[in-house]
Amino acid sequence: MSTYRIAPSILSADFARLGEEVKNVVAAGADIIHFDVMDNHYVPNLTIGPLVCEAIRPHVQVPIDVHLMVKPVDRMIPDFAKAGANIISFHPEASEHIDRTLQLIHDQGCKAGLVFNPATPLHYLEHVLDKLDLILIMSVNPGFGGQSFITQALKKIATVRQMIDASGREIMLEVDGGIKVENIADVARAGADTFVAGSAIFGKPDYKSVIDAMRDRLAAV
Ligand code: DX5
Ligand code: ZN
Repeated sequence: MSTYRIAPSILSADFARLGEEVKNVVAAGADIIHFDVMDNHYVPNLTIGPLVCEAIRPHVQVPIDVHLMVKPVDRMIPDFAKAGANIISFHPEASEHIDRTLQLIHDQGCKAGLVFNPATPLHYLEHVLDKLDLILIMSVNPGFGGQSFITQALKKIATVRQMIDASGREIMLEVDGGIKVENIADVARAGADTFVAGSAIFGKPDYKSVIDAMRDRLAAV
């Protein structure tokens, strides 16, 4: 695996100083900003919307990766594209027409991703793999930061890695939930290339030392 990307989730950032937080985490080596959108309907929590995406956009050059945990999903896509999102991903359970939602994301000029909860089967991929730029495997049930990594996700990551390689397409394989310095190498060995980490980074005083430690572990994979 050549390129590994670290995607801090701003869910664990200090929202009172969000502009500074995203600048600091990018200066510390973040490759992507992971932006968790929750609606108190699809998941039992309520977070941030397009206005906040628009507000942080001028503060960072790296891609903003919007993880939509909302239902219905289509209504939000043009708003996030206008707000400066680069990647938009959603859960298949949250869309009545998955193929149409993927098309909508591409029509808005963004990369499109599909997200799989711990108990969501991968069979959707048989039908839409050729339309995906990113596959996001959840290693926690969505809704909250700071949960423990569900180890069964490793098998799923390995299965998806095989599917991506067999397809010959360039699809990012991202993993989200419970990723820390201590387990990032296992997640990479299973086949992931993009690592979301919220509490492991924003929960610590020195973002650079955590991101550097993650890169050291990845370099040894
Ligand atoms: C969970 C979110 C995650 C979360 C990760 O629903 O999608 O992005 O913020 O947080 P940690 O890294 O603390 O598990
Ligand atoms: Zn997320």
